[in-house]
Amino acid sequence: MITGTSIEKAASVLRSGGLVAIPTETVYGLAANALDPAAVMQIFEAKKRPTFNPLIVHIADIAQLSDIAEPVPEPLNALLKTFWPGPLTILIPKKDTIHPLVTAGNSDLAVRIPDHPLTLELLRTLGFPLAAPSANLFGTVSPTTAAHVAGQFSALEGYILDGGPCSVGIESTIVKLQADGKVGILRHGGVSAEQLSGLLGYLPETVTALHDQPEAPGMLKSHYAPQIPLHLGNLDTLLKRFSTENVAVLTYSTPRTGQNIHTNKVLSPKGDLREAAFNLFDHLRILGASGAERILAEEVPETGIGKAINDRLTRASSV
Ligand code: TXA
Ligand code: MG
Repeated sequence: MITGTSIEKAASVLRSGGLVAIPTETVYGLAANALDPAAVMQIFEAKKRPTFNPLIVHIADIAQLSDIAEPVPEPLNALLKTFWPGPLTILIPKKDTIHPLVTAGNSDLAVRIPDHPLTLELLRTLGFPLAAPSANLFGTVSPTTAAHVAGQFSALEGYILDGGPCSVGIESTIVKLQADGKVGILRHGGVSAEQLSGLLGYLPETVTALHDQPEAPGMLKSHYAPQIPLHLGNLDTLLKRFSTENVAVLTYSTPRTGQNIHTNKVLSPKGDLREAAFNLFDHLRILGASGAERILAEEVPETGIGKAINDRLTRASSV
Protein backbone atom coordinates (compact mmCIF):
# COMPACT_ATOMS: atom_id res chain seq x y z
CA MET A 1 0.00 0.00 0.00
CA ILE A 2 1.22 3.51 -0.68
CA THR A 3 0.56 6.34 1.74
CA GLY A 4 -0.78 9.76 0.80
CA THR A 5 -3.42 12.38 1.53
CA SER A 6 -5.39 12.34 -1.73
CA ILE A 7 -9.12 11.81 -1.26
CA GLU A 8 -9.47 11.48 -5.05
CA LYS A 9 -6.92 8.64 -5.15
CA ALA A 10 -8.61 6.89 -2.20
CA ALA A 11 -12.01 7.26 -3.86
CA SER A 12 -10.81 5.84 -7.17
CA VAL A 13 -9.28 2.76 -5.49
CA LEU A 14 -12.51 2.15 -3.55
CA ARG A 15 -14.71 2.70 -6.62
CA SER A 16 -12.78 0.03 -8.49
CA GLY A 17 -13.26 -2.50 -5.68
CA GLY A 18 -9.89 -2.06 -3.94
CA LEU A 19 -8.81 -1.54 -0.34
CA VAL A 20 -7.99 1.76 1.36
CA ALA A 21 -6.81 2.26 4.93
CA ILE A 22 -8.86 5.13 6.33
CA PRO A 23 -8.14 7.38 9.31
CA THR A 24 -10.81 7.61 11.98
CA GLU A 25 -10.81 9.18 15.43
CA THR A 26 -10.51 5.70 17.01
CA VAL A 27 -8.09 3.58 14.96
CA TYR A 28 -7.28 3.23 11.24
CA GLY A 29 -9.75 1.03 9.34
CA LEU A 30 -9.08 -1.24 6.35
CA ALA A 31 -11.96 -0.21 4.10
CA ALA A 32 -13.83 -1.56 1.09
CA ASN A 33 -17.17 -0.76 -0.57
CA ALA A 34 -19.68 -2.26 1.89
CA LEU A 35 -22.12 -2.94 -0.97
CA ASP A 36 -19.61 -5.04 -2.95
CA PRO A 37 -19.08 -8.53 -1.44
CA ALA A 38 -16.03 -9.23 -3.63
CA ALA A 39 -14.36 -6.09 -2.31
CA VAL A 40 -15.34 -6.97 1.27
CA MET A 41 -13.89 -10.48 0.86
CA GLN A 42 -10.48 -8.90 0.22
CA ILE A 43 -10.56 -7.34 3.69
CA PHE A 44 -10.86 -10.76 5.34
CA GLU A 45 -8.06 -12.12 3.15
CA ALA A 46 -5.72 -9.19 3.78
CA LYS A 47 -6.26 -9.29 7.57
CA LYS A 48 -6.27 -13.11 7.72
CA ARG A 49 -9.49 -12.62 9.64
CA PRO A 50 -11.96 -15.50 9.99
CA THR A 51 -15.18 -14.76 8.12
CA PHE A 52 -17.28 -15.49 11.20
CA ASN A 53 -16.07 -12.16 12.60
CA PRO A 54 -18.37 -9.39 11.23
CA LEU A 55 -17.33 -5.91 10.08
CA ILE A 56 -18.40 -2.40 11.09
CA VAL A 57 -19.94 -0.29 8.31
CA HIS A 58 -19.09 3.43 8.16
CA ILE A 59 -21.48 6.00 6.75
CA ALA A 60 -21.30 9.74 5.96
CA ASP A 61 -24.50 10.90 7.65
CA ILE A 62 -27.64 9.67 9.39
CA ALA A 63 -29.66 9.87 6.14
CA GLN A 64 -27.46 7.10 4.66
CA LEU A 65 -28.64 4.68 7.36
CA SER A 66 -31.96 3.98 5.64
CA ASP A 67 -30.10 2.53 2.61
CA ILE A 68 -28.66 -0.29 4.68
CA ALA A 69 -30.64 -0.73 7.91
CA GLU A 70 -34.12 -0.69 9.40
CA PRO A 71 -35.30 2.42 11.29
CA VAL A 72 -33.44 2.93 14.56
CA PRO A 73 -35.60 2.57 17.69
CA GLU A 74 -35.27 4.68 20.82
CA PRO A 75 -33.17 4.97 22.87
CA LEU A 76 -30.51 4.02 20.28
CA ASN A 77 -31.72 6.88 18.11
CA ALA A 78 -31.11 9.40 20.90
CA LEU A 79 -27.62 7.99 21.43
CA LEU A 80 -26.58 8.29 17.81
CA LYS A 81 -27.98 11.84 17.60
CA THR A 82 -25.71 12.77 20.49
CA PHE A 83 -22.57 10.78 19.75
CA TRP A 84 -22.36 10.73 15.92
CA PRO A 85 -20.00 11.44 14.33
CA GLY A 86 -18.02 9.68 17.02
CA PRO A 87 -16.76 6.47 18.62
CA LEU A 88 -20.14 4.76 19.07
CA THR A 89 -21.24 1.76 16.98
CA ILE A 90 -24.83 0.55 17.09
CA LEU A 91 -26.25 -2.82 16.08
CA ILE A 92 -29.48 -2.65 14.08
CA PRO A 93 -31.32 -5.06 11.76
CA LYS A 94 -29.79 -4.85 8.28
CA LYS A 95 -31.44 -4.49 4.90
CA ASP A 96 -30.72 -6.79 1.92
CA THR A 97 -28.36 -4.20 0.40
CA ILE A 98 -25.80 -5.51 2.90
CA HIS A 99 -24.40 -8.93 1.97
CA PRO A 100 -24.32 -11.50 4.82
CA LEU A 101 -20.52 -11.63 4.47
CA VAL A 102 -20.37 -8.17 6.07
CA THR A 103 -22.34 -9.25 9.15
CA ALA A 104 -21.03 -12.83 9.20
CA GLY A 105 -24.60 -14.02 8.71
CA ASN A 106 -26.02 -11.98 11.59
CA SER A 107 -29.30 -10.19 10.97
CA ASP A 108 -27.88 -7.18 12.81
CA LEU A 109 -25.47 -4.74 11.20
CA ALA A 110 -22.84 -2.76 13.12
CA VAL A 111 -22.70 0.85 11.91
CA ARG A 112 -21.24 4.22 12.83
CA ILE A 113 -20.29 7.67 11.52
CA PRO A 114 -16.57 8.16 12.13
CA ASP A 115 -15.34 11.55 13.31
CA HIS A 116 -12.45 12.36 11.01
CA PRO A 117 -12.58 15.15 8.43
CA LEU A 118 -10.73 13.26 5.65
CA THR A 119 -12.80 10.11 5.98
CA LEU A 120 -16.07 12.06 6.22
CA GLU A 121 -15.17 13.87 3.02
CA LEU A 122 -14.23 10.56 1.39
CA LEU A 123 -17.55 8.98 2.42
CA ARG A 124 -19.48 11.96 1.05
CA THR A 125 -17.53 11.81 -2.23
CA LEU A 126 -18.20 8.08 -2.63
CA GLY A 127 -21.90 7.99 -1.82
CA PHE A 128 -21.62 4.34 -0.72
CA PRO A 129 -20.81 3.06 2.80
CA LEU A 130 -17.45 1.53 3.75
CA ALA A 131 -17.01 -1.74 5.62
CA ALA A 132 -13.87 -1.44 7.73
CA PRO A 133 -12.37 -3.43 10.58
CA SER A 134 -9.24 -2.11 12.27
CA ALA A 135 -6.35 -2.07 9.77
CA ASN A 136 -4.15 -4.64 11.50
CA LEU A 137 -3.48 -8.33 10.99
CA PHE A 138 -6.02 -10.40 12.90
CA GLY A 139 -5.19 -10.69 16.59
CA THR A 140 -2.48 -8.00 16.67
CA VAL A 141 -2.33 -4.47 18.09
CA SER A 142 -4.66 -1.94 16.38
CA PRO A 143 -3.08 0.85 14.29
CA THR A 144 -3.35 4.49 15.31
CA THR A 145 -1.03 6.00 12.67
CA ALA A 146 -0.57 5.55 8.91
CA ALA A 147 2.92 4.20 9.64
CA HIS A 148 1.45 1.43 11.83
CA VAL A 149 -0.71 0.35 8.87
CA ALA A 150 2.18 0.55 6.40
CA GLY A 151 4.27 -1.60 8.74
CA GLN A 152 1.88 -4.55 8.35
CA PHE A 153 0.46 -4.03 4.86
CA SER A 154 3.31 -2.65 2.75
CA ALA A 155 3.01 -5.59 0.34
CA LEU A 156 -0.75 -5.24 -0.08
CA GLU A 157 -2.22 -3.42 -3.06
CA GLY A 158 -4.15 -0.30 -2.20
CA TYR A 159 -3.84 3.10 -0.61
CA ILE A 160 -3.34 4.44 2.91
CA LEU A 161 -5.11 7.76 3.45
CA ASP A 162 -2.91 9.50 6.01
CA GLY A 163 -4.99 11.52 8.44
CA GLY A 164 -2.40 11.78 11.20
CA PRO A 165 -2.54 10.03 14.56
CA CYS A 166 -6.03 8.95 15.73
CA SER A 167 -7.31 11.41 18.33
CA VAL A 168 -9.12 8.87 20.55
CA GLY A 169 -6.78 5.94 19.97
CA ILE A 170 -9.06 3.12 21.09
CA GLU A 171 -11.92 1.47 19.16
CA SER A 172 -15.56 2.52 19.22
CA THR A 173 -18.00 1.46 21.92
CA ILE A 174 -20.45 -1.11 20.49
CA VAL A 175 -24.01 -1.08 21.83
CA LYS A 176 -27.20 -2.96 21.11
CA LEU A 177 -30.79 -2.90 22.25
CA GLN A 178 -31.57 -5.91 24.42
CA ALA A 179 -34.80 -7.87 24.71
CA ASP A 180 -35.72 -5.94 27.87
CA GLY A 181 -35.51 -2.63 25.98
CA LYS A 182 -32.29 -1.59 27.69
CA VAL A 183 -29.06 -0.74 25.94
CA GLY A 184 -26.16 -3.15 26.53
CA ILE A 185 -22.45 -2.66 25.79
CA LEU A 186 -20.82 -5.36 23.63
CA ARG A 187 -17.43 -3.65 23.60
CA HIS A 188 -16.17 -0.78 25.73
CA GLY A 189 -14.52 1.98 23.72
CA GLY A 190 -14.27 5.68 23.00
CA VAL A 191 -17.67 6.60 24.45
CA SER A 192 -17.69 5.63 28.12
CA ALA A 193 -20.52 3.83 29.94
CA GLU A 194 -20.85 6.92 32.13
CA GLN A 195 -21.38 9.13 29.06
CA LEU A 196 -24.09 6.76 27.81
CA SER A 197 -25.75 6.67 31.21
CA GLY A 198 -26.06 10.47 31.14
CA LEU A 199 -28.55 10.04 28.31
CA LEU A 200 -30.08 6.70 29.22
CA GLY A 201 -30.69 7.36 32.90
CA TYR A 202 -29.04 4.06 33.86
CA LEU A 203 -25.57 2.58 33.57
CA PRO A 204 -25.68 0.17 30.60
CA GLU A 205 -24.61 -3.38 31.38
CA THR A 206 -21.78 -5.16 29.63
CA VAL A 207 -23.25 -7.99 27.58
CA THR A 208 -21.41 -10.91 26.03
CA ALA A 209 -21.05 -10.55 22.31
CA LEU A 210 -21.86 -13.46 20.03
CA HIS A 211 -18.47 -13.10 18.42
CA ASP A 212 -16.83 -13.79 21.77
CA GLN A 213 -18.05 -17.38 21.54
CA PRO A 214 -16.22 -18.66 18.48
CA GLU A 215 -16.86 -22.09 17.06
CA ALA A 216 -13.32 -23.14 17.85
CA PRO A 217 -12.73 -22.48 21.55
CA GLY A 218 -9.56 -20.61 22.29
CA MET A 219 -9.26 -19.32 18.77
CA LEU A 220 -9.93 -15.71 19.72
CA LYS A 221 -8.10 -15.88 23.02
CA SER A 222 -5.17 -13.81 21.97
CA HIS A 223 -6.30 -10.40 20.73
CA TYR A 224 -4.41 -7.12 20.52
CA ALA A 225 -1.32 -9.26 21.08
CA PRO A 226 2.04 -7.44 21.06
CA GLN A 227 5.11 -9.19 19.62
CA ILE A 228 6.19 -10.45 23.04
CA PRO A 229 4.15 -11.87 25.97
CA LEU A 230 2.28 -9.33 28.11
CA HIS A 231 1.46 -9.87 31.78
CA LEU A 232 -1.14 -7.71 33.49
CA GLY A 233 -1.32 -7.30 37.24
CA ASN A 234 0.42 -5.89 40.28
CA LEU A 235 3.78 -4.55 39.10
CA ASP A 236 5.66 -5.33 42.32
CA THR A 237 4.55 -8.95 42.12
CA LEU A 238 5.29 -9.21 38.41
CA LEU A 239 8.73 -7.59 38.75
CA LYS A 240 9.62 -10.08 41.45
CA ARG A 241 8.38 -12.99 39.37
CA PHE A 242 10.43 -11.97 36.34
CA SER A 243 13.41 -10.54 38.22
CA THR A 244 15.92 -12.56 36.19
CA GLU A 245 14.64 -11.30 32.82
CA ASN A 246 14.93 -8.13 30.80
CA VAL A 247 11.43 -6.67 30.95
CA ALA A 248 9.53 -3.75 29.44
CA VAL A 249 7.08 -2.01 31.75
CA LEU A 250 3.87 -0.19 30.87
CA THR A 251 2.64 2.06 33.67
CA TYR A 252 -0.36 4.35 33.96
CA SER A 253 1.06 7.59 35.35
CA THR A 254 4.15 6.85 37.43
CA PRO A 255 7.55 6.11 35.85
CA ARG A 256 9.23 2.93 37.00
CA THR A 257 12.92 2.14 37.06
CA GLY A 258 14.74 -0.99 38.13
CA GLN A 259 17.78 -3.07 37.35
CA ASN A 260 16.02 -5.42 34.98
CA ILE A 261 13.64 -2.81 33.50
CA HIS A 262 14.79 -2.46 29.92
CA THR A 263 12.23 0.17 28.88
CA ASN A 264 9.37 1.93 30.64
CA LYS A 265 6.49 3.68 28.90
CA VAL A 266 4.05 5.82 30.86
CA LEU A 267 0.53 6.02 29.39
CA SER A 268 -0.23 9.41 30.91
CA PRO A 269 2.25 11.18 33.21
CA LYS A 270 -0.52 13.54 34.30
CA GLY A 271 -2.93 10.69 35.01
CA ASP A 272 -5.43 11.51 32.26
CA LEU A 273 -7.34 8.46 30.96
CA ARG A 274 -8.06 10.07 27.56
CA GLU A 275 -4.33 10.64 27.08
CA ALA A 276 -3.69 7.06 28.19
CA ALA A 277 -6.11 5.74 25.53
CA PHE A 278 -4.43 7.90 22.89
CA ASN A 279 -1.03 6.38 23.75
CA LEU A 280 -2.05 2.78 24.47
CA PHE A 281 -1.57 1.00 21.14
CA ASP A 282 1.50 3.01 20.15
CA HIS A 283 3.17 2.24 23.49
CA LEU A 284 2.32 -1.46 23.15
CA ARG A 285 3.99 -1.48 19.74
CA ILE A 286 7.10 0.29 21.00
CA LEU A 287 7.46 -2.05 23.97
CA GLY A 288 6.74 -5.07 21.76
CA ALA A 289 9.68 -4.11 19.53
CA SER A 290 11.97 -2.94 22.35
CA GLY A 291 14.03 -6.09 22.58
CA ALA A 292 12.76 -6.94 26.07
CA GLU A 293 11.62 -10.48 26.79
CA ARG A 294 8.14 -9.55 28.00
CA ILE A 295 5.87 -6.64 28.87
CA LEU A 296 4.67 -6.17 32.42
CA ALA A 297 1.64 -3.88 32.64
CA GLU A 298 -0.64 -2.49 35.32
CA GLU A 299 -4.34 -1.71 35.02
CA VAL A 300 -5.52 1.90 34.80
CA PRO A 301 -8.40 3.26 36.95
CA GLU A 302 -11.60 1.43 35.95
CA THR A 303 -13.65 4.57 35.23
CA GLY A 304 -14.66 6.30 31.99
CA ILE A 305 -12.51 5.23 29.05
CA GLY A 306 -10.33 3.34 31.57
CA LYS A 307 -12.74 0.39 31.21
CA ALA A 308 -11.91 0.14 27.51
CA ILE A 309 -8.16 0.44 28.20
CA ASN A 310 -8.28 -2.35 30.81
CA ASP A 311 -10.35 -4.49 28.42
CA ARG A 312 -7.66 -4.18 25.70
CA LEU A 313 -4.85 -4.84 28.19
CA THR A 314 -6.63 -7.96 29.42
CA ARG A 315 -7.08 -9.22 25.86
CA ALA A 316 -3.46 -8.36 25.05
CA SER A 317 -2.20 -10.38 28.00
CA SER A 318 -1.12 -13.91 27.33
CA VAL A 319 -1.63 -15.24 30.85
O1 TXA B 1 -13.50 2.09 16.17
C1 TXA B 1 -13.83 1.10 15.53
O2 TXA B 1 -14.86 0.48 15.76
C2 TXA B 1 -12.88 0.68 14.40
C3 TXA B 1 -12.89 1.75 13.32
C4 TXA B 1 -12.13 1.36 12.10
O3 TXA B 1 -14.22 2.08 13.01
N1 TXA B 1 -13.28 -0.59 13.87
C5 TXA B 1 -13.12 -1.76 14.54
O4 TXA B 1 -13.46 -2.87 13.82
O5 TXA B 1 -12.70 -1.81 15.66
P1 TXA B 1 -13.06 -4.35 14.26
O6 TXA B 1 -13.50 -5.20 13.14
O7 TXA B 1 -11.63 -4.40 14.60
O8 TXA B 1 -13.95 -4.62 15.49
C6 TXA B 1 -15.34 -4.69 15.29
C7 TXA B 1 -15.98 -5.55 16.33
C8 TXA B 1 -15.59 -7.00 16.21
O9 TXA B 1 -15.36 -7.52 17.49
C9 TXA B 1 -16.83 -7.63 15.57
O10 TXA B 1 -16.96 -8.97 15.96
C10 TXA B 1 -17.95 -6.75 16.11
O11 TXA B 1 -17.38 -5.47 16.13
N2 TXA B 1 -19.10 -6.73 15.21
C11 TXA B 1 -19.15 -6.21 13.97
N3 TXA B 1 -20.34 -6.43 13.39
C12 TXA B 1 -21.08 -7.09 14.29
C13 TXA B 1 -22.39 -7.63 14.27
N4 TXA B 1 -23.18 -7.51 13.21
N5 TXA B 1 -22.81 -8.28 15.38
C14 TXA B 1 -22.01 -8.42 16.46
N6 TXA B 1 -20.75 -7.94 16.52
C15 TXA B 1 -20.29 -7.29 15.46
MG1 MG C 1 -9.93 -4.95 15.48
